[in-house]
Amino acid sequence: MATQNNVLDFVPTHRSSKLLKAIRSIRYRNRPIKSIFTKLYFEPRRDQEMISGPGSDLVQTAVISREIPALINELGIQTMLDAPCGDFFWMQHVELNVKTYIGVDIVRELVERHTRNHANAHRRFMCRDITKDQLPCVDLIFSRDALVHLSHRDCLAALERFKASGSQYLLTTTFPNVRENEDILTGEWRPINFERAPFNLPPPLKLINEACTEDGGRYADKSLGLWKLADILNADGQ
Ligand SMILES: C[S@@+](CC[C@H](N)C(=O)[O-])C[C@H]1O[C@@H](n2cnc3c(N)ncnc32)[C@H](O)[C@@H]1O
Repeated sequence: MATQNNVLDFVPTHRSSKLLKAIRSIRYRNRPIKSIFTKLYFEPRRDQEMISGPGSDLVQTAVISREIPALINELGIQTMLDAPCGDFFWMQHVELNVKTYIGVDIVRELVERHTRNHANAHRRFMCRDITKDQLPCVDLIFSRDALVHLSHRDCLAALERFKASGSQYLLTTTFPNVRENEDILTGEWRPINFERAPFNLPPPLKLINEACTEDGGRYADKSLGLWKLADILNADGQ
């Protein structure tokens, strides 16, 4: 969710001062998504393995590391797209009983590193922009801690790309207690409730609470919501 070192980038938008917001807006406005996240990737940090931040450490992901394999078995998932895979720090430890795992990320250097270190006959990595590129058709698209960093417009574009892939299920980060979704500049962060405008997704088929303890429990409702992509309408109502 957030990185310890990039305070400016990942302090939740609604909690930051006007000055921080102004600095961010100069930094992010009109910049291509790829350059925003590639710049974050190259910023110095204490642990180069942990690029995706403390929300992706082994404590915050303990519950979902158990629940995701259970869900995969329950739904009979054979193919999975991790969009985006980020630093692949916790996911590399998860026992995924799938025939094919594809991790995508917009940062080419990250994808190349994972390909060198983690690719095998069942696992591969590709550089893709989830808001623009064609994505493979899979049984399950898993998208954790990513759409929360995108503006409403980019987020809707990603949902459209997910749907256009012809994939079956979407499992993504949602905060069911959020009443009103705040728009941000892509590169910032805010909690999203996908059941609220402008997304208006139907109630999820399943909600997995992550038992998030970040920020003193402020985001205790942080969850993974499961939807059938066929149940999600495009912006044009299709
Ligand atoms: C906070 S990390 C989360 C990664 C991972 N899902 C996890 O749970 O650890 C967010 C990742 O999203 C990637 N990202 C942001 N926008 C993207 C886009 N439009 N297409 C693909 N990847 C993107 C960033 O490069 C970063 O690696």
